[in-house]
Order: sequence, then structure tokens, then C-alpha cells
Amino acid sequence: MNLVEASHAALEEIASDDLESLSAEEASACAAQLRKLLHAHNYRYHVLDDPVIADVEYDRLLRGLQKLERLHPDLVTPDSPTHRVGGSVQDRFEKVRHPVALLSLSNAFDVDELEAWYDRCRRGLSEHFGGDVRPVMTVELKLDGLAVAVTYEAGELVVGATRGNGIEGENITRNVRTIPSIPLVIPPEENDLPRPARLEVRGEIFIRKSDFERLNERAVAEGEKPYANPRNAAAGSVRQLDVSITASRPLSFMAYGVGPFEGVEPPDSQLSLLTWLGSYGFPVNEHTKRCASIEEVEATYEGWSTRREELDYEIDGLVVKIDAFDQQEELGYVSNAPRWAVAYKFPAQEATTTLKDIVVNVGRTGAIKPEAVLEPVHIGGVTVSQATLHNEDYIVNRDIRIGDVVIVKRAGDVIPQVIKPITEAREGDLPKWSMPGRCPACGTELVRLPDEADYYCMSTECPAQFIRLVEHFASRGAMDIEGLGAKLAVELVENGLVRHLSDIYRLTADELKTLDLFGEKRARNVLEGIDASRGRPLSQLLFALGIRHVGRTTAETLVEYVASLDELAEASAVDLERIDGIGAVIAESIVDWFKVDQNRRLVRSLAESGVNTKRLPEEEPVSAAEHQAAGKTFVLTGSLPTLTRTEASERIKAVGGRVTSSVSGNTDYLVAGDDPGSKYDRAQELGTVILNEEELLELLAG
Ligand code: IVH
Repeated sequence: MNLVEASHAALEEIASDDLESLSAEEASACAAQLRKLLHAHNYRYHVLDDPVIADVEYDRLLRGLQKLERLHPDLVTPDSPTHRVGGSVQDRFEKVRHPVALLSLSNAFDVDELEAWYDRCRRGLSEHFGGDVRPVMTVELKLDGLAVAVTYEAGELVVGATRGNGIEGENITRNVRTIPSIPLVIPPEENDLPRPARLEVRGEIFIRKSDFERLNERAVAEGEKPYANPRNAAAGSVRQLDVSITASRPLSFMAYGVGPFEGVEPPDSQLSLLTWLGSYGFPVNEHTKRCASIEEVEATYEGWSTRREELDYEIDGLVVKIDAFDQQEELGYVSNAPRWAVAYKFPAQEATTTLKDIVVNVGRTGAIKPEAVLEPVHIGGVTVSQATLHNEDYIVNRDIRIGDVVIVKRAGDVIPQVIKPITEAREGDLPKWSMPGRCPACGTELVRLPDEADYYCMSTECPAQFIRLVEHFASRGAMDIEGLGAKLAVELVENGLVRHLSDIYRLTADELKTLDLFGEKRARNVLEGIDASRGRPLSQLLFALGIRHVGRTTAETLVEYVASLDELAEASAVDLERIDGIGAVIAESIVDWFKVDQNRRLVRSLAESGVNTKRLPEEEPVSAAEHQAAGKTFVLTGSLPTLTRTEASERIKAVGGRVTSSVSGNTDYLVAGDDPGSKYDRAQELGTVILNEEELLELLAG
């Protein structure tokens, strides 16, 4: 019987609901079978990412086991999957001494420090092994969570401990047992591997960004203070004396090393160790790779410093390790860190500074956005003096007050944001902040719509909204008018040169020259920029118009179905809702926009000024259904030579393909780059077609 059949048989047995009538012996056999099935499903779900039964069926199996354990308490085993749901509350954490200390890492903050580290390793190894040794490195992502050591005896999870001071940590075994991706027994049933007499696995517990957002939303809804960041949320969630709280938190785990072991022989290098840990049932990071030179490490670092935002978890750098264990051993340790590894950190993304003021800005849709005025502070090489505070609830829930010392975060290209106040540093009694009653630009009373976090200025004549609309219209991705930025938008509107968007296309050099700092040359440049924008694709114009809920993607989707602005103007909400990806809210917003006479006049006027309002040939939709990759399932692994993962996924989806994260019988193609990892082995096992990047591009080109 395979796993699915065995599970269905067990479900029937549970459903018949005479678990009470089982003899002690039968109950014991049934419990053992349920434990085995639940472990296997856990592994498929959390490690292989490839479940074979429905969540409700899993829950039924789990409840069956819980019931048996209630009826026969002697059947509870330390590895029982029921431990994942919590239990009684303890009053403190016991201390545990780590048999082998959990070390920390020394840091490198720039390429010189990294090179200095590598040169030290080279010298040390060359002296010992002779010749010029250029050791190969394993480069891992440095997950930003908390370190944990999990010990297995005879294959069963017996202890989970925090790092603590490295020598002694806290016993969080019961909490660790609730984390679904940490196996309770190893190896997984289907892997025919020896069961270790003893094995300590080390890794990072963390919370995914998407889970973090949901967790904080829930916290706020329940009147609790949100966590500042995923790392704090992970640490706070693990160290709960009431284990059922830990169980309710979306904690994840990835392994990156081992401590002491007996009765097994792990491989002799870091990268193979990770693959080995994977086969023992531990999630390991898929982006790990070997590098033969510092140049390669540097390129990987550069790559991740821009792409880290694409990951669904936070990383604060890379961990570079000498790959071969005999070389690691030779290099040894200094005080509390290995010589064979270094953390190559990204520049800090957070800093503290004083919140000098909170001002509110009016967006192009009339939404009122509170913004922090900060004492300027350097974050990751940039001076930050303003940051978003999102909305009223954000400020109130975090109790942010003018005069507070606050944590500010700047991540990638995202607008800096205030994370939270440091209330301990608050001096005296700072007044609570509240939203002003009127629009700062036009004085109209502000309203907060039901179910929306933002306040709005509803005036159609609010100059601030119009300035923002002009700015948006000209921005990149919209009409992309070179030379027309935020400052010029203000000047044009305030000096009465632009009263409607279409006025932009009637501007003259003489008019522009009446503005401050405008000479002949600048005027000519701006006019050239405006002229060039007449030929932008329809989807860009559609986005530029600033219709509520019509972002860039929605605009592109619409243009697949409508060939001109006139055609869109005639569409009914029902027509629009037939389009995949267009829901009632978007459809209604579009129809409402075209109902306004002024907007219809705008469309006509733009067309009269020579602005393109029709679909361009390059916007013609490709018929996805006809493409040979349509409906096919792809899995990506390893790093591809030219495409990022996101780019590859997008191209596959553009021709109607699907991208999933793990290889199964349903996978049609595995796209493999360098250092592909375990997915590659699995694809080979299953006989899945394996493509390199070039072959993928050929396939996509049809
Ligand atoms: S190796 C002796 N690998 O970083 C080696 N650590 O600053 C010690 N971390 O406490 C750890 N990702 O919590 C290693 N891929 C990774 C890691 C990693 C995150 C954390 C770990 C450790 C801290 C050291």
C-alpha cells in the first residue's frame, strides 16, 4: 500500500469511530500507524512541498491520534506528531549545556575584509598542505532569525535548544516540536538511510515575510502590539512558556550544519552535508552554491544585495564557508568563531533617529498619507530624512509620537519606513498624534471610508491631488516624460500652465521660460521629452491616467483584451469582469472613470494632441493556449547564467506555463542552473525532462 492508500485506510478506520472499543494492543498498533503516516505527510508537506492528501484529511488523522493518546496515555511517545499542537504551560525554561559550543561568526563588511579572510585561509592551508591551496567555498544565505540546535537520539527528536551564550542555551524542546518543518523522527520513512544513534542538527528558525504580515495583522486585530520585524517575531514566538502560542505561530526552519553525531557518517564537505541533511528530512536553503574564487563570491553578493527583496524571508548577508571539512579542521577556531567561515554582511538597513514631525501629504487619488520628518540619518550609504508612516492605524497601533526616538528601515528600492518608537527612550510626556481634520492643500474635511485604512480628501478641485496626478502621469512606467519630475509638476500646476493633463501636450517654450530657472535649453529638453511620450504603448497611457485600482499589471491585462482607449470607454462592468484578473472593484472603477465628462474630454483631447490611444503591435497578445509550453509545469533550480528566477518564472507564465516549487510526478520540466541541489536528483529519479537556460529560452521562443 502506498502512502495515499494507507492514509485513506486509516481515515476509514478513524471515521468508523469505535476507537474506544480497540484493545490495548490494537490501539497501540493503530497509534503507531497514525504516527508513521503523519510523519510522512509532514515531510511531504513541509520539506518536499508536495502534499498528497488534503489538509482536512491530515487534521482528521491527527485528531484520531490525539484521541487514541487520550484514551491510552501510555501510547504517547516523545516523537508523537500531536506534540505539534502544544500542551500545558511551563513556568520557566530549563538551561541546557551544549555538548559542543555553538559558535558565532566573524564579520566582513566589504570586499577587502572578505579578501583578507580568504588570504588568511589560503596561507594557513598552503602552509599545512603545501603548494598554493585555493580552497573552494560554500556560499549560503545568512537567514535572519534565531539559531537552534536540535538533537535526535535513535532518530527521535529529544532536545531543542537556543544558542544562548553559545555554551549554554535554553531548553525549548516542546516549542521546537511544534514547528512543522522540523522533523520529529529521522530519516523520513521513504529514504532508506541509516538511523543515527545520535545527531545534533543546527539551523535557523525564522518567519517568512508573508507570514509575518499576516501575524502582525492578526496581532493588531486582537489589540496587541505588532512585532517590529520577522526576526523579533520569530524569537518572541519560539520562547513562549505556553507552547500552544508557539504552535499557533507560522515558524519555519532551515538547517545549515551539524553538531555531534554517532552512528552515521555525514559527508566530508559543507555543500554535500546540506544535501545529506536534505535527504534526512531537513529543509535546507536552495540558493546555496560553491564558489572557487572571491570574484565569484563577490558576484553572488552583488546579485543578492539587489535581489534579496524577492525572497520571502529576510537575510542580512551571506555566510561564506571553506567547503572541505579537512580544510576546516586544519584552520580551526579563534576564541568563539571559526577561522573557516565568515559572515559577509549587507549594509545595515535599520537605524535609530529622532522623529521631528509628522506631516500629511495628499496623494493623486486624494488619499492622505502621513509622513515622518526625521533627524537625517545614514542607512546603508544613503541619508534618510523622510519616511512613510503608512496610515493613521499604523501610527496609533505602534503609539508613535512626535519627539520619539524611532527605528527607521530602508530596504532596497522601497520607500524608507518608520518601524516603531523606542518607548524606553521617551522623555517626559509626549502628546499622542492624531490625524488632522482637514486637507492640508485645500481645507476640505477629510473622510475615512469604511473598510479603508486611509483618509481621503474628496474634493475634485484639490490642487495637491492634481499635482500628484501630473507627477504620476509623467513618471517612469507611465508616460515616462524625461525632465518632468515632482518639482516641475508643482511649478506647472501652481503657475496655471497645466490645468488638465492634456495641457502638458500644449506647452510652449515661451510658457516654460516664464518659470524659475528655465532657459532655452531646459525648455527644449522638456518639450522633447513630452513629444517622445506621445508614442508610448496604450498600457502605459492607461496606467498614467491614474484610474483608481488600475496599476501597471492591470493596465497590461486590459490591453490584452481592448485595442484602444475608445473601446475601453465603451466597455460595461460586465464585459470587463469577464477578463481574467479583473474583478468587480476594478471594473466598476474603470466604468465610473469614463462616466465623468471631464475624463472623456481628456481622452479626446489627448488623442487630438497626437498621443497614442491604440494598442501598439508589440502589445498584441500572444496566444498562450497555442504555445507548446502552455499548461506545462516547470520547476526552477540552481542559478541560471543570465535570467533571475523571477524573470524565468515570468517568461514561463507569459506563454501559459506554471511554475511550482518542488519536483513531483506532475512536473513536466526541471530548469536547472549551476549547483542545482536535490531537485535535480529527484527529477532524474522521476525521469523529468531537464532543461538548461538555453534550452528553456528555445522552448519559450516556440
Ligand atoms: S553557520 C560556526 N550558516 O548567523 C558557524 N549561520 O552570526 C556558525 N546564520 O548564530 C553558524 N544563516 O544563527 C551559519 N547559513 C548560515 C546561517 C547562519 C544564519 C546565523 C546563525 C548564527 C549567526 C552568526
